[in-house]
Amino acid sequence: MSNDGRKPTTTDAGIPVASDEHSLTVGPDGPILLHDHYLIEQMANFNRERIPERQPHAKGSGAFGRFEVTHDVSAYTKAAVFQPGTKTDTLIRFSTVAGERGSPDTWRDPRGFALKFYTSEGNYDMVGNNTPVFFLRDPMKFQHFIRSQKRRADNGLRDNDMQWDFWSLSPESAHQVTWLMGDRGIPKSWRHMNGYSSHTYMWVNAAGERFWVKYHFKTDQGIDFLTQDEADKLAGTDGDYHRRDLFNAIKRGDHPSWTLHMQIMPFDDAANYRFNPFDLTKVWPHADYPLQEVGKLTLDRNPTDFHTEIEQAAFEPNNLVPGIGISPDKMLLGRIFSYADAHRHRLGVNYKQIPVNRPKCEVNSYTKDGPMRIDNVSDPVYAPNSKGGPQADGAKYPEMATWSADGQFTRAAYTLHAEDDDWGQAGTLVREVMNDEERDRLVSNIVGHLKGGVEEPVLGRALEYWKNVDKDLGERVAKGVA
Ligand code: NDP
Ligand code: HEM
Repeated sequence: MSNDGRKPTTTDAGIPVASDEHSLTVGPDGPILLHDHYLIEQMANFNRERIPERQPHAKGSGAFGRFEVTHDVSAYTKAAVFQPGTKTDTLIRFSTVAGERGSPDTWRDPRGFALKFYTSEGNYDMVGNNTPVFFLRDPMKFQHFIRSQKRRADNGLRDNDMQWDFWSLSPESAHQVTWLMGDRGIPKSWRHMNGYSSHTYMWVNAAGERFWVKYHFKTDQGIDFLTQDEADKLAGTDGDYHRRDLFNAIKRGDHPSWTLHMQIMPFDDAANYRFNPFDLTKVWPHADYPLQEVGKLTLDRNPTDFHTEIEQAAFEPNNLVPGIGISPDKMLLGRIFSYADAHRHRLGVNYKQIPVNRPKCEVNSYTKDGPMRIDNVSDPVYAPNSKGGPQADGAKYPEMATWSADGQFTRAAYTLHAEDDDWGQAGTLVREVMNDEERDRLVSNIVGHLKGGVEEPVLGRALEYWKNVDKDLGERVAKGVA
């Protein structure tokens, strides 16, 4: 049969095949032959198409673009990616947290905002969310938290009672839950939300001076949201609404952008700041540390293969470059371990050789072999050596992000600063940031959620929780539920 001048189908070994449609049989009605290895290749490949989904943040999508520095922040960091005028290729992946790979984009949930900068000094990953805070301040609770948001053991269903059981027993979640139940809990699209590092990181300048910093990527499209009603309808009619929106916007040349601003705290301020600056459940009020503009992120290229460019993308907060480091935020310290471990499980030990994860600078590491190793390894395969192999340059690249700590090994909460408590900033959000309409929708969203299967004794605790955030809000919620 003629193939009309199209490229001939081949096996994965490049050998032309006889048919896309018919398996090899003994006569038209006879048995299939085992030596039809092309049929077997098709079946075998199909059976192995799926890789494990990300444990949290399974549903999402992404795009490629560029980050350009527009303002000089070299006084605060020596990172090449943030030097004036520098342009860096980037990859971003947006996601929801609790839903599975095929779940609706419009479920109420924080959104992931994961960035990979392919810098001249190696890959820098800023793995943030669309919220400036998080539900917890200790990584010991993260796994339990995510399980409470996902599905029950017995019937495989999500369960609001389970969610509120966890939240109401974890008062540190109040700020994030207030944020989540408000308008920003369901963005209109990924283009219409901000991205935050949430955590405090360290920046170090060329003179070795250290600063504590927070990242704020502000959307240039403007903040917009979906009401619960709109989101519920979309969940039933177009589960991929946000994925489709981003792809189509970039396809039609409507390239979304975000302006990066930083909050920058002098190193020594941390000790006596009114809030513990490393507590992930707190923001630094803008009046204390105003936003300073740095540059612009623009997305202008869609993936051409979702699996290899988005599904196999591996973001990890431990990918930090000289001039950028970690902080004493315990959640961040936990994440520094967790992501690479997840990638080794999900993608295999050599995941950094998958093109989307590969740095665009020279790699001179001493890792070796393992499943799916693609890069050649050359001698010497050990250090120290006298054979000319790579050698760490501690003078040029000293341990960057350091602070001093001493004390007995302990399992304890952070030291409280003057104004630290679990409810204060959540109350400020309700009373001082939201307007009347936003507060009305907040009440309605909370009431709707609590009426979705939350029972005593969890319900009583949840009502008390809202009274602690704000007395008036709590009373309105209690009335709404009754
Ligand atoms: P500001 O008045 O300076 O900032 C208020 C912030 O709230 C703005 O950044 C705004 O974001 C954001 N915001 C506006 N509406 C909502 C909403 N419905 N849900 C969530 N965020 C909203 O006050 P402070 O810096 O003193 O912070 C007061 C409270 O604002 C905090 O307790 C916190 O809950 C919230 N907030 C603070 C942020 C910070 O980094 N300081 C960041 C985001 C929220 P934008 O301008 O980007 O639209
Ligand atoms: C994804 C762990 C807190 C943002 C993940 C994944 C794990 C994980 C295991 C899946 C990774 C993968 O398979 O590719 C943790 C732990 C946390 C924590 C242990 C706390 C102790 C946070 C916080 C944020 C965040 C505070 C935001 C500030 C993200 C994002 C993704 C993700 C955006 C998706 C990345 C992508 O698009 O591939 N997290 N997480 N996580 N997490 Fe966290």
